[in-house]
Amino acid sequence: MQWDGDAYQQRFDDLAASGVAIHGEADFVERYRPRSVLDAGCGTGRVGGELARRGIDVTGVDADPSMIATARRSAPSCTWLIGDVATIVLDRTFDLVVMAGNVPLFTPPGTQAALVAGCRRHLVTEGRLVAGFSLDRHYSLESYDEHCQAAGLELEGRWATWSGQPYAGGAYAVSCHLLGAARPRVPAPSPTRSGGRPRPPRTAPR
Ligand SMILES: C[S@@+](CC[C@H](N)C(=O)[O-])C[C@H]1O[C@@H](n2cnc3c(N)ncnc32)[C@H](O)[C@@H]1O
Repeated sequence: MQWDGDAYQQRFDDLAASGVAIHGEADFVERYRPRSVLDAGCGTGRVGGELARRGIDVTGVDADPSMIATARRSAPSCTWLIGDVATIVLDRTFDLVVMAGNVPLFTPPGTQAALVAGCRRHLVTEGRLVAGFSLDRHYSLESYDEHCQAAGLELEGRWATWSGQPYAGGAYAVSCHLLGAARPRVPAPSPTRSGGRPRPPRTAPR
């Protein structure tokens, strides 16, 4: 699939101009307090660019040159790379890898396991993979969890929305998988008003 980066971004800019809060994904990710984030399937960088504006070191990778061209214009301080997350090998790792906006549904058919492995390849030990995608298409949560498990990632938490509503089997899920399990868990985020300051992570009750 080919994208028009400027047209894609314009939809979000129009929503923002009409008062819609568009940074739910960035709010969610920021709550884990990562110092570095890989925005995997970054598109126009609407998530990674916002995280960079909040002081996080962001690199984005996307297969589509038009998306990356828009990202480079929108957030020139970040590193935006044209590449396939399933196969790319960067010379560094990140505290957190995020796949926002249905990325596993747009990767070429049959490459979802490699996509997940590519995300894992760029995580520090005890790093997190956060992904949100629709479940009413061709890729199930069961397959995603299998691919994560094969890559050494353990499910830490799952929500129905980026604002932290509990997941109860609906048509969309936001999942957080952890590489290594030595760190105290971060509890499920409580719904927050978008734009509000994220709450600091707390140690989960034993
Ligand atoms: C709907 S867009 C989401 C973009 C961005 N993450 C966002 O939330 O706005 C899906 C993006 O995933 C990218 N993508 C899908 N599979 C990919 C892969 N294997 N490697 C790199 N990019 C990929 C597509 O090129 C597309 O830009």
